[in-house]
Amino acid sequence: MSIEPITAFFGLWDMIKGMEDGKKAAQKLVIEGLGHKRVLSGEISVCGAKNSALKAFAATLLFKEKVRIENVPHIEDIFQMEHILKDIGVLINQEKDAYVLDTTSQISSELPRALSKRLRASIVLTGPLLGRNGSVTFHHPGGCLIGARPIDVFLEGFRALGANVSMKGEAYVLTVPTGGLPGGEFFFHTQSVTGTETLMMAAVLGRGKSVLKNAALEPEIVVLADFLNACGARIRGAGTPTIEVEGVPGLHARGNLFETPPDRIEAGSFLILAALTASDIMIRDCEPRHLESLIYLLKIMGVSLEVGGDFIRVRGGDGRYKAHDIKTHEYPGFPTDLQAPMAVFLTQCEGEAFIFETIFEGRFRYVDDLLRMGAHLRSLDQHRIMIKGPTTLSGKELESPDLRAGLAYIIAALVAEGVSVIHNVYNIDRGYEHIEERLSAVGARIKRVPE
Ligand code: EPU
Repeated sequence: MSIEPITAFFGLWDMIKGMEDGKKAAQKLVIEGLGHKRVLSGEISVCGAKNSALKAFAATLLFKEKVRIENVPHIEDIFQMEHILKDIGVLINQEKDAYVLDTTSQISSELPRALSKRLRASIVLTGPLLGRNGSVTFHHPGGCLIGARPIDVFLEGFRALGANVSMKGEAYVLTVPTGGLPGGEFFFHTQSVTGTETLMMAAVLGRGKSVLKNAALEPEIVVLADFLNACGARIRGAGTPTIEVEGVPGLHARGNLFETPPDRIEAGSFLILAALTASDIMIRDCEPRHLESLIYLLKIMGVSLEVGGDFIRVRGGDGRYKAHDIKTHEYPGFPTDLQAPMAVFLTQCEGEAFIFETIFEGRFRYVDDLLRMGAHLRSLDQHRIMIKGPTTLSGKELESPDLRAGLAYIIAALVAEGVSVIHNVYNIDRGYEHIEERLSAVGARIKRVPE
């Protein structure tokens, strides 16, 4: 029998515990709705990408020296990753938004359970740690409650590349034969972003060649591979469905530093917010070419956008937008992480549209709250909803179910009439830096207060 079902219960338990622990920061956001007024204006800069910086932190385990990572967002998920890395022996120094991670000393092969359960991305550490130490012990990771989030792909992938996978109590234990990970070929039955990154990193210090097929294509994977290659890795094909990795004996930073790319999900959320609430907003320091699917859709729905090399300018216009169906898809398709903000956008569009969430089965947990706010919305099954607009939303007490829905709630609260209160701000702080300060700077009335 597969070991995956045995641990499914514990995985779920860890996720629930992670949510409970997340409530430590008892703060809420109080937001004054704008109704239909378009008052936000000015400039807003996009921070470094959470899902890129987290992987860069993990990648430092492939080195035995200091590695510098720049443009790191000040968010809770990064702080969690920092805790885990310190726990296993990494020395970390922070200088504003740059981090220097020193992996010279001995690093433990055992990932701390309590810390890992709070961060799904902690599983990415297993790849480089296996490459470095030849063994890893870890528990099912936690993270946002957006679906089952199994780890079968990781376990199958490790086996395919020549690792031995076993269980010790509730912990998974990975080991490689003497001499390093032999390498092999692996086909992802489901494209997995962290799965691709993890196995790619596991193979970097292997002794053979690894081929990953049906790999995920997200830009964060390409940025990671480019950095590792600059430091001596031999990775070909990142950003395409077939990635080949030839093992090398070691990596050296050689003066290279990891520059975290802009967060495409944050940029996309700001774009949606601006389309609904702004007269004229410039979204700076972003990478529009990573947002093609959203930009294409917003344009055909009627949003006036000026797209530059590293900025997008949104002009509010009359705010009459046409509804359009949305289907989430792996990159470069429409990102699941923008699905909730897009649902809020659809409540303000004319007509009926379906959202088909194809990646996660738990990403409509915001539906009841939007209904309470006055949205015309119908759940069809756990992957599809229908939204009819436009509707006037009204301010409510809300509690964000996951971090991406959290920003969707801020957008909904700003579009609404009246005051909204968003509880469990920790869920938003996990992914967005000082969100209330940055939105206040463009004219939003939003403040953080203790619960
Ligand atoms: N899947 C499996 N088995 C596995 C792994 C994944 O069946 O072993 C399935 C998942 O259940 C899902 C699909 O594969 O249906 C894709 O999941 P994926 O593994 O790609 O997700 P992830 O790597 O855990 C990353 C981001 C998510 C983002 C997804 C999809 C990080 C740290 N997380 O998650 O970001 O939604 O890719 O793009 O990179 C967020 O930032 O809020 C977030 C959830």
